[in-house]
Amino acid sequence: MNLCGKIIFFMFISVILSCTKDKGKLMSDEDKPSNTLVCDTNTYTYNADVKAIIDTKCIGCHASTSPYGSLASYTVIKNKALVGSLLSSLKGEGYSLMPPTGKLSDCEIQGIESWITAGAPNN
Ligand code: HEC
Repeated sequence: MNLCGKIIFFMFISVILSCTKDKGKLMSDEDKPSNTLVCDTNTYTYNADVKAIIDTKCIGCHASTSPYGSLASYTVIKNKALVGSLLSSLKGEGYSLMPPTGKLSDCEIQGIESWITAGAPNN
């Protein structure tokens, strides 16, 4: 094998090695999201989860003086939770879908539902 042949041979080997290395890295990256996608709704609490979602995704249109209804305190949120309008609006069933710009994730909706089923506690 002449020099040129050897160079091509080594380039060929290093390309194969780098491909298998990349593949290994890609596969372990793909494993991670599926682990974090586990939806643990049992841990949903008002202060850590429900209020955090409402403060980021709802309060812009539902401040205390909003004509569309306030979501600015535990009391009003709890009332809407217990009469059913909170969950119905998140599912877009019987009420306009909230947020109007796009539904929350299934996990967020399930989490809020489990908090409501638990009696919408101030936990
Ligand atoms: C872009 C503005 C906007 C955002 C963001 C928004 N809403 Fe609304 N919301 C409205 C409007 C407008 C209405 C009245 C719509 C209607 O009656 O059809 C409404 C009505 C509602 C109602 C029914 C009225 C009531 O108070 O009983 C509920 C419940 C509600 N929204 C909950 C939410 C929740 C929960 C979020 C966040 C996940 C949210 N909204 C985010 C604009 C918004």
